[in-house]
Amino acid sequence: MKGRQLLHAAALSLLLLATVAHAQQAARTDPGDAAALNAVFAKLGQKAGTSWNISGDPCTGAATDSTNIDSDPNFNPAIKCELCTGSGNTSVCRITKLKIYALDAVGPIPEELRNLTALTNLNLAQNYLTGPLPSFIGELTNMQYMSLGTNALSGPLPKELGNLTNLIVLSFSSNNFSGSLPSELGNLSKLEQLYIDSAGLSGPLPASLSKLTKMKQLWASDNDFTGQIPEYIGSWSSLTELRFQGNSFEGPIPATLSNLVQLASLRIGDILNGSSSSLAFLNNLTSLNTLVLRNCRMSDKLLSIDFSKFTSLSLLDLSFNNITGQVPQTLLNLNSLTFLFLGNNSLSGSLPSSIGSSLKNLDFSYNQLSGSVPSWAKDSQLNLVTNNFVADSSSNSVLPTEWGCLQRNTPCFLGSPQSSSFAVDCGSTRSVSGSDNSVYEPDGATLGPASFYVTGAPTWGVSNVGWFMDAINGSYIIYSSHQFLNTLDTELFRNARMSPSSLRYFGIGLQNGNYTVTLQFAEFDFPDGQSWKSTGRRVFDIYVQGVRKEQNFDIRKAAGGKSYTAVRKQYIVPVTKNFLEIHLFWAGKGTCCIPSQGYYGPAISALSATPNFTPTVRNAAAKKEGSKTGVIVGVIVGVAVLGLLAFSGIFVWRQKRRKLSLEQEELYSIVGRPNVLSYGELRSATENFSSNNLLNMLIQDSVCSIFL
Ligand SMILES: *[C@@H]1O[C@H](CO)[C@@H](O)[C@H](O)[C@H]1NC(C)=O
Ligand SMILES: *[C@@H]1O[C@H](CO)[C@@H](O)[C@H](O)[C@H]1NC(C)=O
Ligand SMILES: *[C@@H]1O[C@H](CO)[C@@H](O)[C@H](O)[C@H]1NC(C)=O
Ligand SMILES: *[C@@H]1O[C@H](CO)[C@@H](O)[C@H](O)[C@H]1NC(C)=O
Ligand SMILES: *[C@@H]1O[C@H](CO)[C@@H](O)[C@H](O)[C@H]1NC(C)=O
Ligand SMILES: *[C@@H]1O[C@H](CO)[C@@H](O)[C@H](O)[C@H]1NC(C)=O
Ligand SMILES: *[C@@H]1O[C@H](CO)[C@@H](O)[C@H](O)[C@H]1NC(C)=O
Ligand SMILES: *[C@@H]1O[C@H](CO)[C@@H](O)[C@H](O)[C@H]1NC(C)=O
Ligand SMILES: *[C@@H]1O[C@H](CO)[C@@H](O)[C@H](O)[C@H]1NC(C)=O
Ligand SMILES: *[C@@H]1O[C@H](CO)[C@@H](O)[C@H](O)[C@H]1NC(C)=O
Ligand SMILES: *[C@@H]1O[C@H](CO)[C@@H](O)[C@H](O)[C@H]1NC(C)=O
Ligand SMILES: *[C@@H]1O[C@H](CO)[C@@H](O)[C@H](O)[C@H]1NC(C)=O
Repeated sequence: MKGRQLLHAAALSLLLLATVAHAQQAARTDPGDAAALNAVFAKLGQKAGTSWNISGDPCTGAATDSTNIDSDPNFNPAIKCELCTGSGNTSVCRITKLKIYALDAVGPIPEELRNLTALTNLNLAQNYLTGPLPSFIGELTNMQYMSLGTNALSGPLPKELGNLTNLIVLSFSSNNFSGSLPSELGNLSKLEQLYIDSAGLSGPLPASLSKLTKMKQLWASDNDFTGQIPEYIGSWSSLTELRFQGNSFEGPIPATLSNLVQLASLRIGDILNGSSSSLAFLNNLTSLNTLVLRNCRMSDKLLSIDFSKFTSLSLLDLSFNNITGQVPQTLLNLNSLTFLFLGNNSLSGSLPSSIGSSLKNLDFSYNQLSGSVPSWAKDSQLNLVTNNFVADSSSNSVLPTEWGCLQRNTPCFLGSPQSSSFAVDCGSTRSVSGSDNSVYEPDGATLGPASFYVTGAPTWGVSNVGWFMDAINGSYIIYSSHQFLNTLDTELFRNARMSPSSLRYFGIGLQNGNYTVTLQFAEFDFPDGQSWKSTGRRVFDIYVQGVRKEQNFDIRKAAGGKSYTAVRKQYIVPVTKNFLEIHLFWAGKGTCCIPSQGYYGPAISALSATPNFTPTVRNAAAKKEGSKTGVIVGVIVGVAVLGLLAFSGIFVWRQKRRKLSLEQEELYSIVGRPNVLSYGELRSATENFSSNNLLNMLIQDSVCSIFL
């Protein structure tokens, strides 16, 4: 029989182990399905693994027993067969599930997929599928769960997707589609989860989506969606999770979101145009455990929210907005709150005197806070860079050395510069001599979600803010042993610092004048070639001296599409107040989850600042690196400078600090660089990450991401 022959051919190419005995068995897979599966596997270079226990026919072994192929990595590729008709050895089954997951299958979506009309569950995520999503996909109308996430699909989305009216979960995140979301998607009235982040889409969200009232989870970050966030989202009353960062939405955020009382995780960001938004819509959203309204023109006082009702809140990020007024005690007292990010706002007053037991990571950088540093700072990571705090003996004992240099009202060496260059090998624990004759200083200290340090004499500092929310163990320092191209200084690129929100380097006490700032980057976690991991994009903005120099900077793109290739960016910038600031800022762009969940944000390998003038100030950094005589000379010169300063009487109060730094400098030459993080709390704060709340958050997030 013809069908039987076809089936034999299918079985043979599916499974080289097929024995003659097996081949004589009666068919159990629908012949059309078997032929289609065989063709799909052949085109995508797949074959059944031995764990499948296939015996001459696809619908045998794991395909029909109780194996859960969705969660068991040993069964991949895999199918499930159901809908069997007939009985005993004459029964015929249809293929209802097909999984080819994270196998780097390369090529267009095979047209034979069209014949697998009984499919209810299709998982082709994390491969390298190219070309368009064919319109025949709309014929597979039994489909309930479909994931095409993390591939290289392109072209417009077919409107026929709207025919898949049984869909419950749909993902096509991290692809290279173009155009807007088809309005036909509004016909998917059973849809509960939609993952379309980093999909390449643009334009407004169609009005028809208002019909998706069963929606529970929507991830739609990192596209180019425009217009306002639609009001109808407020009528999706079952919504528990919404991600809308890194788009081109306009403000304000619709007040209707106040109806979403089941929301557990809300992340909105990067709304740069339109009106500002108030916090009022949050008042009833008391189920929230993660709230991110970052860089989205929020203009309000924290006091307008009664935070005491937010008993599940574990992460609050309102950074990069226009939040004013005082920091309320009720907020800091929340029992489950662990991460608080309020940087780059206009908060004023002093910090509350007590704090909840789980709150270990607090970012108040770039505000107008003043007063003294509260005593709880010793048990937390507290980033208070660029405020108006005053140094006293108790704060000096709990904060990183020379923290005062990074306050607005106590700049160090203002008018008395002590260096004219510096170079840093970001994330490295050793100093490296560059081919440009600079000595790149080490920068290997552990920085956490809200930390900073100042180093050298002091000559430079670094501040990091943000938490890799979805990463089980996200790392702020990344490493590669690879050889790097386009540089003589491979060593500089081994380590890089990475940040999920904001990473700043500061030059302190530089002689005024124009400087060449050189930033060096290389991508190394998105390998080249046809792999799902190669589809990752890292995108961020670069500011130097407060001026945006790059928007949507993509290291690999700048290197001509190649990883492991050095990229050098140079800017000539003025230093006018003996201070330099380099800011790498994540604006919600780039992929979120390649090569792993929660992998995103700016990264930098090395940086340097060199004068465009003939400096008259001896470089403290050079002194430090020099021989013993060098150090002694340095100290003498320093003392002479000190004397002059005292004589001028202008910077009298600073003498102590300066003396201190000279003493430290001597100390460095004897015992090496001191531990820049004088607060062991960093460690305890890090251990605290595994509080129950956070675990729940992670579990929730990873459960819903398995399908991506
Ligand atoms: C798919 O179905 C069509 C129409 O029924 C048929 O002509 C074609 O041969 C099938 N393809 C495979 C690979 O079975
Ligand atoms: C699959 O085959 C292996 C050995 O070949 C056997 O140990 C295992 O029990 C089989 N599994 C099923 C579900 O038949
Ligand atoms: C089907 O099974 C019956 C007994 O269970 C057997 O007699 C018959 O030969 C089998 N048919 C085929 C085609 O294997
Ligand atoms: C599928 O969708 C297209 C376009 O949305 C439509 O024209 C077509 O009639 C639909 N097909 C079926 C079988 O519903
Ligand atoms: C994505 O598609 C666009 C065309 O829409 C193309 O120019 C671009 O090269 C593609 N990018 C990648 C990474 O494939
Ligand atoms: C599907 O959506 C389109 C556009 O929103 C609409 O015109 C069409 O009538 C819908 N079809 C069905 C069957 O609801
Ligand atoms: C915001 O508006 C400005 C000026 O109208 C425009 O140039 C810019 O592209 C807009 N940005 C976004 C993200 O829409
Ligand atoms: C919050 O809920 C209360 C009572 O359920 C209601 O009266 C109030 O209007 C709601 N506020 C908002 C902003 O929706
Ligand atoms: C920030 O908020 C204050 C007080 O509400 C307001 O006066 C100011 O215009 C806002 N600034 C911006 C940039 O929105
Ligand atoms: C931070 O706040 C300042 C105003 O204080 C603003 O100019 C700047 O654009 C903000 N954002 C970033 C990314 O620095
Ligand atoms: C996370 O930590 C575990 C154990 O410490 C390690 O095996 C794994 O490679 C880490 N994953 C990442 C992505 O760093
Ligand atoms: C610094 O650079 C700017 C622009 O490159 C230039 O206009 C200015 O004259 C320079 N200043 C000095 C002191 O060289």
